[in-house]
Amino acid sequence: MLQACSTQPAYRRSSVVVCTRFAKRCAAPGASYADNNQTFIANVVAIAAAACLFASPSHADEETTLSFNKNCIGCHVGGGNVVQAGATLREGDLKRNGVASVEAIYDLVYNGRQKMPGYGTGCTPKGKCTFGPRLSDEEIQRLSQYVVEQAAADWK
Ligand code: HEC
Repeated sequence: MLQACSTQPAYRRSSVVVCTRFAKRCAAPGASYADNNQTFIANVVAIAAAACLFASPSHADEETTLSFNKNCIGCHVGGGNVVQAGATLREGDLKRNGVASVEAIYDLVYNGRQKMPGYGTGCTPKGKCTFGPRLSDEEIQRLSQYVVEQAAADWK
């Protein structure tokens, strides 16, 4: 089972969510042993969690970084906001503006808000949405996760 776990880091998307899933996934096959060996299970979970810590520096995968650089950096260079002061992607502003969670950011990036264009395939009306290519739900999800992670690392 440990071997199965150690092949998982291919998943390294450096997200806590993935790590949690990873830990769960790794723990799951052992569940049947739980009755007679709780310690063993606890160890497996601990090892999985530790592996996550090592496998997940605070930097997102390259694809998401590239996507951010392509789609968002024009207005949000360095996690700032060149269009609207007070609406940067830094933790203080995100919290104050009620968009500190992945879900809230997803919603905002999908539908847009004021001068921020929406990127979702179902964004309407058109005038509120990006004139460029729309992004898939999955890409918006990953970008939202990326924003939260980068904000936690103060965009360093
Ligand atoms: C054309 C400029 C522009 C682009 C491109 C852009 N944004 Fe924004 N963004 C804004 C503006 C303006 C706001 C402030 C909106 C408001 O008034 O509430 C904002 C707000 C945000 C916020 C909320 C910040 C806060 O503190 O309230 C997030 C998160 C965000 N953008 C993420 C993104 C992501 C991710 C992308 C790329 C997919 C992106 N933005 C692309 C202009 C842009």
